[in-house]
Amino acid sequence: MLKSSQFGKDFLWGVAIAAQQNEGAYNIDGRGLSIWDAFSRRQGKIKGGHKPYDACDFYYRYKDDLLLTKALGFNVFRFSIAWSRILPDGTGKVNKEGINFYNKVIDECLKLGLKPFVTLYHWDLPYALEKEGGWTSHRMTRWFTRYATVCAEAFGDRVKDWIILNEPMGFTSLGYMLGKHAPGKTGMSNFLPAIHNAVLCQADGGRVIRDLVPKAYIGTTFSCSEVIPHTDRDLDVQAAKRMDILLNRLFIEPALGRGYPKDDFKFLEKLEIYTKAWKFTDRMRFNFDFIGLQNYFPVTIRHNSIMPIIQASEVKAATRKVPHTAMGWEINGESFYRIIKKFWHYGSVKEIIISENGACFKDEVVDGVVNDTARIAYFEEYLKAMHKAKHEGVNIKGYMAWTLMDNFEWSEGYKARFGLIHVDFETQLRTIKNSGYWFRDFLQK
Ligand code: BGC
Repeated sequence: MLKSSQFGKDFLWGVAIAAQQNEGAYNIDGRGLSIWDAFSRRQGKIKGGHKPYDACDFYYRYKDDLLLTKALGFNVFRFSIAWSRILPDGTGKVNKEGINFYNKVIDECLKLGLKPFVTLYHWDLPYALEKEGGWTSHRMTRWFTRYATVCAEAFGDRVKDWIILNEPMGFTSLGYMLGKHAPGKTGMSNFLPAIHNAVLCQADGGRVIRDLVPKAYIGTTFSCSEVIPHTDRDLDVQAAKRMDILLNRLFIEPALGRGYPKDDFKFLEKLEIYTKAWKFTDRMRFNFDFIGLQNYFPVTIRHNSIMPIIQASEVKAATRKVPHTAMGWEINGESFYRIIKKFWHYGSVKEIIISENGACFKDEVVDGVVNDTARIAYFEEYLKAMHKAKHEGVNIKGYMAWTLMDNFEWSEGYKARFGLIHVDFETQLRTIKNSGYWFRDFLQK
């Protein structure tokens, strides 16, 4: 049986949450609308017509939720700041009440001995900025720099651990190419500038924090998925290679100073229109203290000539009849191990934090108990894989479970449950799942 002590006594064990998914109080104390508030009003965009307006009511229940985090034995609390609570119009006037709220959350963390890990951007762009073009606008870097500056000046005396962006590939592809997430835009003419502006913001944001926060520990997060070719046919292998560039390489390589991985995927040369012949390579680079890896599943990819540009598509876990979660995501601890090693092989990554990992299952409360054995098995498998990588010399400093409690799972609404704690969204009643108790026991050993 794996023990948490095998990871060393300084290892960071946390839970991660995000403002839009947890806070609620969407129009309280001066908060401006976010793109998700607006997107959820559009017919058919979110399952069940759910809205993120109340979410888990964390805005009012943060003290209890932090106590629960502490009670489960974690020492890190990762949360994000809602840009539109700080700057309701995205830029312009600062909302003191927004600052006040995060001051209370930070102070409460410190009082309980939880290290506050702050994410600057977890997908909830102020709607006011989206009306001006959002991530496709070249003004994005100016807006983001201002926002990061306000946060650094307000919280930097107590918060030393900063994550600049949450999964840029996630919000640019789902929100600006596929239209499945807010703001619901589609096509390459939106996706390409959004990529480039996110790459610049992740580095510019790092520089703001470095300048303004003494002794800051700065990272940014990347979603990652091992890409496995469906067969060893050359067409499938090449398709998997292209998908790997998009899913795993597109955002980290510019940060490491390598520029965009355009040589292996000619289409990405189109980014030149926005970068004016690559002269931005230096500005895209930032010397992060750590990178956050967020892994849930691997993908199996086959050649598919119908798919524009990428000419590839996924062969789902259910089709292949391999174990998967309620999201249809393959469960595969070995691939978690391999993807960690892959990022470590860059050589220039200093430290890695697994900043999200977890699983969604159809949980039910029966007589006050949620017996989520599948989630426990998932954590056992993934933590074992992480330990193997660490044992082999990968400098992994911490692990954050996604997520503390069931929350607003973006376009899936409230039905997709990832939490260690069950939330009844009618009553806001919290019930610790057996996986939560499992984690508590694991963290004691
Ligand atoms: C995101 C979370 C999300 C989770 C599960 C990650 O990509 O950062 O906000 O809830 O995956 O889908």
